[in-house]
Amino acid sequence: MEVYSGRIKIPLIVLLLSAFAISSTRVGFYKTTCPQAEAIVQYVVQSAVRSNKSYASGFLQMFFHDCFVNGCDASILLDGNLSEKTAATNLRLRGFDVIDAAKSMLETVCPGVVSCADILALATRDSVVQIGGTSWAVPTGRRDGLVSLKSEAESNIPGPKASMDDQIKVFASKGLNVKDLVILVGGHTIGTAACSTFIHRLYNYSNTNGPDPTIDQPFLPHLRTLCPLGGEQATRVALDTNSVNTFDTSFFDNIRSGRGVLETDSMLWTDARTQKYAQRFTKTRRSHQSAFNKMFAKAMVKMSKIELKTGNQGEIRRVCNTINTN
Ligand code: HEM
Repeated sequence: MEVYSGRIKIPLIVLLLSAFAISSTRVGFYKTTCPQAEAIVQYVVQSAVRSNKSYASGFLQMFFHDCFVNGCDASILLDGNLSEKTAATNLRLRGFDVIDAAKSMLETVCPGVVSCADILALATRDSVVQIGGTSWAVPTGRRDGLVSLKSEAESNIPGPKASMDDQIKVFASKGLNVKDLVILVGGHTIGTAACSTFIHRLYNYSNTNGPDPTIDQPFLPHLRTLCPLGGEQATRVALDTNSVNTFDTSFFDNIRSGRGVLETDSMLWTDARTQKYAQRFTKTRRSHQSAFNKMFAKAMVKMSKIELKTGNQGEIRRVCNTINTN
């Protein structure tokens, strides 16, 4: 079938293919327009994570919080009194300086070409690799969003007391299934949480005057020592005990033995819908590490395609914390 465009006949298949090409991301998007793009991001991120490993958990959480709010469009990077950054859940995000450094190098080499959204997607991959994860190919070609609202961050990022039904619902609304949820929350293999996010489990869980019964008995005094009743709520505790800066599968062994720190993490084991996937990554199963690495990579690529802006949508920002003024 052919379509008439003015006086030229264009095969329909060509039209469909070109529409697809501008409306999706692809690996190597900058191959001709900015061949050094990925190497520059990698260079900047590697040196940052080498000097401070906690950049890796910072990027991973930042990418999740970007993608779940209006898609992966770097809206999380925008400054503003009521921008996403200002939501309580985002106040500890870090790595903005690293993204800015990569962006300014890229603007020198190929101005106006590489989006901040792609820089964040690449930086997340590179930082995970730097702390022991396996690499994956990041499709690029995202464009940067023009809108960033605190209220949207508040309504799209699940909180530490979310029920499993709610978690599943939020992920489904982003096109992610229960398996994706388990694998992506496995990102809690790195990073820390404030006492305020789980202290409700330690002393008077659901008005029982006792702890959450799913917490491993010998683990409870450890958590109570770190987060005493009436103590400092901002104290940070490793989400994956004994392995806070290594991208491995011990998080799944921990939740299996009641050593999950967040209530939402422990639910991955207590809820049958998620346990069946979480089991696959515990050390009781063969090749659990390689299975996790492979599936995490796949789930990250899936997450990185939430509500994409491509083609003429959005823009390529000149600096990552502000939209272009002309
Ligand atoms: C139901 C889903 C999720 C819930 C309820 C949740 C909840 C939380 C909470 C409460 C914290 C601690 C925040 C703080 O005290 O600063 C946290 C940290 C973190 N989350 Fe999640 N999360 C979820 C999914 C994810 C996903 C999908 C990823 C990445 C793929 C992720 C990556 C991280 C990382 C890396 C940290 C550590 C941040 C740091 O060290 O500063 N989370 N999460």
